[in-house]
Amino acid sequence: MPLNRTTVTHFLIEAMREKHGHGNLTLLLNDVITACKVISDQVNHGALVGALGSAGSENVQGETQKKLDILSNEIFLRFNEVGGHLAGMASEEMDDPYALPEGAPRGKYLLLFDPLDGSSNIDVNVSVGTIFSVLKCPEGVTHPEVKDFLQPGTTQVCAGYALYGPSSMLVLTTGDGVNGFTLDQNIGEFILTHPGMTIPEDTREFAINASNSRFWEAPVQRYVEECLAGTDGPRKENFNMRWIASMVAEVHRILVRGGIFMYPMDERMRSKGGKLRLMYEANPMAFIIEQAGGACSTGRERIMTLQPTGLHQRVPVILGSKNEVERVVSYHKE
Ligand code: AHG
Ligand code: MN
Ligand code: MN
Repeated sequence: MPLNRTTVTHFLIEAMREKHGHGNLTLLLNDVITACKVISDQVNHGALVGALGSAGSENVQGETQKKLDILSNEIFLRFNEVGGHLAGMASEEMDDPYALPEGAPRGKYLLLFDPLDGSSNIDVNVSVGTIFSVLKCPEGVTHPEVKDFLQPGTTQVCAGYALYGPSSMLVLTTGDGVNGFTLDQNIGEFILTHPGMTIPEDTREFAINASNSRFWEAPVQRYVEECLAGTDGPRKENFNMRWIASMVAEVHRILVRGGIFMYPMDERMRSKGGKLRLMYEANPMAFIIEQAGGACSTGRERIMTLQPTGLHQRVPVILGSKNEVERVVSYHKE
C-alpha cells in the first residue's frame, strides 16, 4: 500500500490550519463521515443484515419509507448528537427539527441531511447516497426552531455527499473547491482520490425522467426536444441520455464527466413546488456544483439565493455544465 496517501481527516486538518480555524467544523465533519461509513456498511451488506425492503411507514412528505431510510436517519442522529459541535439537526425523514438530548454538549452548527437519497434503488442494488449541509446556528440560539434553519444556500459552511456505489465515495466542499475521497474498506478510511473536481462547461449528456415529459413546462420540453433531434436539429449534435433516479449518483457523474440534470417544474407537482427538497438536496448539491464551476437554477432563479420558506420546501432543479444550464435558463426567459 502506498504510504503517501491523504486521508480525509488529514485533509480537513490541513484545510483548518490554513484557515486558522478552531477545529469545530473538522470534528463535526469527522462525526458526519463516521455516520456515512456506518451507512455504507449497512447498504453494502443489504439483504445479509435484513436491511432491504419497505418499513411500512410514510415520511412527512407522504413518501413510503424504506427500512434503510429509517436506519440511515437513526445512524446520522446517533453519531452526530454527542459530539458537541451542533445546536440542532433537520432531516428529510423527520417532520420537525431534531432536539438534541437535554444536557448534551452543544455547538454552533446546524446539520441538515437526506440520510438516504435514491432509496427506490436499494432493493435493486443500484447506487444510493447521503446528502448533507452545514449551516451556522444564529448567534445566541441554543434550541433552534424551524426559522433558524431557513437560511439561503449561500450561507452554507459545508456541503457534501456520500455515494454508495461500486465503491463508496465522499465528496465535500467548504467553499474552497470540491474534493473527492474513496473509502478504503480495509482500513476504514476515505482517501483523497479526486482532488479539485471541476465540471466541463459544455456537455452532450442530459439526465431527466422522460416519463414526466407531458407535464413539463414549454422551455424544458423545447430543450429536451432539441437534444433528441441530434444532428438533424438546431443543436446539430447528438446527445446521450442517463437516468439513475438517484440524485447523488447523477451529480457524481456530472462532477466526473460533465452533463446536465433536471428535475424541473411539472404540472402535477406545481402545488408542491417541485420534486426535490431545497434544504436537503438542492442547496447542498448547488453549493458543490457551483464550487466545481457548474451552475444550479430553478430555471428562473439561482437555487443558492432562494429564501427558504419551509424546512421541507420543494423546488425545481436544473444543474450541471454551465453553458447548458444557462441555455435552459435562457429558454425560460423567452
Ligand atoms: P429520495 O430517495 O431521497 O426520496 O430522493 C429521490 C429523488 C432523487 O434522488 C432522484 O433524482 C429522484 O427523486 C428520482 O425521482 P423519480 O423516481 O421520479 O425518477
Ligand atoms: Mn433524496
Ligand atoms: Mn431520502
